[in-house]
Amino acid sequence: MSSSHPEPFDAVSVIRAKRDRGRIPDAEIDWVIDAYTRGVVAEEQMAALAMAILLNGMEADELARWTEAMIASGQRLDLSAVRRPTTDKHSTGGVGDKITLPLAPLVASLGAAVPQLSGRGLGHTGGTLDKLESIPGWRAKLSNAEFMAQLDSVGAVICAAGDELAPADKKLYALRDVTGTVEAIPLIASSIMSKKIAEGSAALVLDVKVGTGAFMKNAQDARRLAETMVALGTAAGTHTVALLTDMSTPLGLTAGNALEVRESVEVLAGGGPADVVELTVALALEMLAGAGITGVDPAEALADGRAMDVWRAMIAAQGGDPDAELPVAAEKQVLTAPATGVLTRLDAYAVGVAAWRLGAGRARKEDPVSAGAGVVLLAKPGDPVRAGQPLLELHTDDPTRFERALQALEGGFDIGDAADLVAGPLVIERVTA
Ligand code: URA
Repeated sequence: MSSSHPEPFDAVSVIRAKRDRGRIPDAEIDWVIDAYTRGVVAEEQMAALAMAILLNGMEADELARWTEAMIASGQRLDLSAVRRPTTDKHSTGGVGDKITLPLAPLVASLGAAVPQLSGRGLGHTGGTLDKLESIPGWRAKLSNAEFMAQLDSVGAVICAAGDELAPADKKLYALRDVTGTVEAIPLIASSIMSKKIAEGSAALVLDVKVGTGAFMKNAQDARRLAETMVALGTAAGTHTVALLTDMSTPLGLTAGNALEVRESVEVLAGGGPADVVELTVALALEMLAGAGITGVDPAEALADGRAMDVWRAMIAAQGGDPDAELPVAAEKQVLTAPATGVLTRLDAYAVGVAAWRLGAGRARKEDPVSAGAGVVLLAKPGDPVRAGQPLLELHTDDPTRFERALQALEGGFDIGDAADLVAGPLVIERVTA
């Protein structure tokens, strides 16, 4: 700390206020986020504050101020020059969740502009950028000028978020990861919403996943997170709606980077698994409504090739070859059904961990991922299966990985009676301000 510029507050008083269940005054919130970003508040002090927030929570207006301070730690994009209404989607992450890939070009094909700043995968859920990077030539990093030009001309951009977007969150998220403070709803909500609001889109749809493959394991927690994020978006002037959607089983029939791109292209070609199509259309309608576009039919734009045209333009604009062969893993192994009956459960988390162990995901953020690795589902819950029938196909470049992937799948599915099937809706609930 420089003596010529004394700090107006001290971190210990801020920590004590939250430790004692108080509300942190606005000026102190602004200061603590800024001082942490500058390196004046030490990591151990922010760790203590994050733990106090996890234990004692935050009031709604306190959290709104905290989120504003996180946004103010970096750049806020100005999309006012874009000639179409802007609308975006964020998913809290799930297994086989490739929805952004067909969704962004679909929504752009119906008249909106979709500015998607995305991340890479960590742990058992995949990252959108990792998936797109399996397309030969495709590049995640764009300059601000390239981003704006593509948004205006193509209508959809999916690219890496720059370092200048909510830098306080980058530091804080890494710290939470190693201090057991990821699971605090105010911290998750402000982390996601600071980045999304800074992105500058006028409308936002949140896909809050519920189930074993998601951050939030039950609908009650997911609803609280959704309500908190919708309130933050609304307070910041972003038209925000959330859908709670099922993540007890993987979305679609693939989990893994190139495998998911292939499936997304099937959806853009008017085919693809019914659940992926259903969720893509449901989210598209919400994104379009948020942008003031109604009376359009997303299913039709998938069927007649309009969405595919935008996909091709979007991939090509970032150096990718939409016609290139996608990478295929070197080795394949099949897991067969041990009994005859109905597949009553196929656990999203088990499949996600298996795909990760096959090389589709990373354990540390600097690890590489395998483009071809992953899991293909040959049956979904509700399907009849016969003993010995292939159930799952495991793909990897490194056959020593099969054993650990198979271990992840032990206990990950049930075959029984049709009566044991518990099938809920894919879209569970809609949360608005
Ligand atoms: N995703 C984020 O960006 N932040 C969190 O805190 C959790 C998930």
